[in-house]
Amino acid sequence: MEETIQQKKRLYSAVQPTNALTIGNYIGAIRNMVAMQDEYDCFFAVANMHAITVRQVPAQLRQKTLALVALYLACGLDPEKCTIYVQSHVPCHAELAWVLNTFTYVGEMERMTQFKDKSAKHADNINMGLMDYPVLMAADILLYKSDVVPVGIDQRQHLEITRDIAIRFNNIYSPTFVVPEGVYPKVGAKIGDLLDPSKKMSKSAENPAGTIFMDDDKDVIMRKFRRAVTDSDSEVRYDPENKPGVSNLLSIYTAFTGKSIEEAERQFAGVGYGDFKTAVGEAVAAKLIPVQAEQARLLAEKDYLNGILKAGAERAYKVASATLSKVYRKIGFYQL
Ligand code: TYM
Repeated sequence: MEETIQQKKRLYSAVQPTNALTIGNYIGAIRNMVAMQDEYDCFFAVANMHAITVRQVPAQLRQKTLALVALYLACGLDPEKCTIYVQSHVPCHAELAWVLNTFTYVGEMERMTQFKDKSAKHADNINMGLMDYPVLMAADILLYKSDVVPVGIDQRQHLEITRDIAIRFNNIYSPTFVVPEGVYPKVGAKIGDLLDPSKKMSKSAENPAGTIFMDDDKDVIMRKFRRAVTDSDSEVRYDPENKPGVSNLLSIYTAFTGKSIEEAERQFAGVGYGDFKTAVGEAVAAKLIPVQAEQARLLAEKDYLNGILKAGAERAYKVASATLSKVYRKIGFYQL
């Protein structure tokens, strides 16, 4: 078994356990993680160390960590096939991040779009962690010699800096890190807010009416979709530039039904926007309601979840500590 696992390419991704997740997280990342788990040797983390770059309520962070593990499983990640663990359970992440800090320039971090956005949003708490966030993310990815990283488009800049850091280190020493590739969904790499599709659908949007949370009930889902912006036209057609609202709804619909955009356009030819939005809401609810029930069932099985996390942390530590030790050797840290 070990041999077949090693032959597979390595895949890494992580999600922050902050607020409730949105269908943007599901479409942009989790759906792909589930789809790719058979083909790759997968490591999936709950990024609680990234989460504290914004102030968290401790009891909630603990609860959301376990809730995210249950959600991963409820969405279809199989702990027999992939390694699921909590980032803070593997100390190598913080250790490698420290080393990589010395290969990353302040100017590079200051230019990061997410840093600039979050600094504006949390002007009273522009802490070093917020700025250093991409370096920790680079450490996550590079520790596991990851070949591919399925994420939404908002993470592309972080993936690129990860590649730059890896190449920089490899050039100074000798090939040490695998230079990873980001994998972005063809449709749905940036799901927009339902009320303002030019903005990313976000866990922390000011107005939650534009965001579908993974734990919204059916009435709420249907109401939010009914109020989603479309346009003054009446044609259900995929054209992100001229019809951002309708195109966003089509992306969501195809992600939840597995249909292609063309199939969906044919299906809704001549159908009014009201009925179209109802159909999108129905498709989303049909998927989310059973996922919510399964997540609740799993959350009641804390020992089972803890068992998965313990095994996950052990497997992750084995891989991560081997990489860290190699890095320490190359940079000249005296090791016993
Ligand atoms: P996070 O928790 O903000 O989001 C988790 C994943 O969801 C994707 N995503 C979206 N995709 C499409 N449309 C949207 N509206 C949308 N909103 C979010 C994100 O791109 C992401 O893939 N820094 C990461 C977590 C992380 C990580 C890593 C990811 C930490 N270490 C290593 C990959 C590899 C983050 O904050 O994701």
